[in-house]
Amino acid sequence: MNILIIGSGGREYAIGLRLTQDNQTHNLFFSPGNGATANLGQNVDIKDFNDLAKFALENKIELTIVGPENALSDGVVDIFKANNLTIFGPSRAAARLESSKAYMKEFLAKNSIRTARFINTNNYDEAAEFIDTLGDIVVVKADGLCAGKGVIIAKSKDEAKTAVKDMLSGESFGAAGKRVVVEEFLGGFELSFFAICDGNSFVSLPVAQDHKRLLSGDEGPNTGGMGAYAPSPLANEELIKRVEKEVVEPTLKGMQAENAPFCGVLFVGLMVVNDVPYVLEFNVRFGDPECEVLMPLIRGELGEILHGAALGKLSKFELENEIAVGVVLASKDYPYKSSPAAKISVENIPQNSHIAYAGVSLEGGKLYATGGRVLVAVGKGTSVKEARDRAYELAKNIQFDGMQYRDDIGYQAL
Ligand code: AMP
Ligand code: GLY
Repeated sequence: MNILIIGSGGREYAIGLRLTQDNQTHNLFFSPGNGATANLGQNVDIKDFNDLAKFALENKIELTIVGPENALSDGVVDIFKANNLTIFGPSRAAARLESSKAYMKEFLAKNSIRTARFINTNNYDEAAEFIDTLGDIVVVKADGLCAGKGVIIAKSKDEAKTAVKDMLSGESFGAAGKRVVVEEFLGGFELSFFAICDGNSFVSLPVAQDHKRLLSGDEGPNTGGMGAYAPSPLANEELIKRVEKEVVEPTLKGMQAENAPFCGVLFVGLMVVNDVPYVLEFNVRFGDPECEVLMPLIRGELGEILHGAALGKLSKFELENEIAVGVVLASKDYPYKSSPAAKISVENIPQNSHIAYAGVSLEGGKLYATGGRVLVAVGKGTSVKEARDRAYELAKNIQFDGMQYRDDIGYQAL
């Protein structure tokens, strides 16, 4: 199959790697890709989606897979479909489940899907009044996409009110914060639930856990994610069934009723409070680094699975009986600022482990670390411990100046 993958991260590399492993006759294109995806296929850099659709037609692309949320909320799927191209991902309207927290929360309320008690408003007084009904910790969220930074966990009502004021004035997040969601704080543990959807039916993937903070022990600033593992033993059979019945099914039905059937990856950010799953957020794509650990756990041909889903004919598939752990190796100044380019050396890659490359560029045949999250060291095994030991053994074989990583990925499962 001729397959185009949109995006440039470790997520897109992991998808490409998996496709190549399944079937060496696939012909892969990445837009824009990274220094390592150039080894899996051909990188092209076409920013305008109409031009990219033209490229897809000219190159007889049979399946396009969209990685990042921005492309989805900018309507790449609508443009490709208007050109009769097969593309896996939600339409712009369906992508609002991620691109507007206000839309998402109202959707949950309308469909009786459990979520934190909230108010969605652009009025300060209304927000302040609601804050007074909550406990001492209050969560304030900008409505629009803020690259994971638009959520403030305020430690007091006053701090929450100040956060609302700063958002509504446009000071903290520009237009994305002109509307806010204020909600109660939920205490529990977080899980990432993924379902591949074709608009109508779905297949669940292993439940993953991300590690958002920069430093071990969940210290330091929030990041895009410093490591992940799946499946998590924190998600038992009963919880999975509940999420399928109480979240995924009503979401697919609800989106049909909105005339925006959901095709693509539904990524449910869950908070589990006393065994009860609450929806914190939806994302409409694979998580990164979750994707890097999920790809090795799918049994069957990924290209066929996603092609079927894109056409509204998803076939069931099985999952591997293994655990995967991914440790993100980030550059020196991540997540604060960009770091100087640094040459990557890899001593050897032990059995049952591999690298998913993210922020890298290729110069003179060598890979350089040029992005924030540079790569993910992935280990597989029959237990979390075995998989994690393999991931860390691989990480120790990798070197670049300023490299940093957490040493406790998967700790909640051990
Ligand atoms: P979101 O982008 O909505 O998932 O929020 C980012 C992070 O903020 C989540 O991964 C949680 O760690 C935290 N968070 C968001 N909403 C809540 C909430 N209502 N209660 C507790 N933590 C939350
Ligand atoms: N790792 C979390 C995300 O991709 O949003």
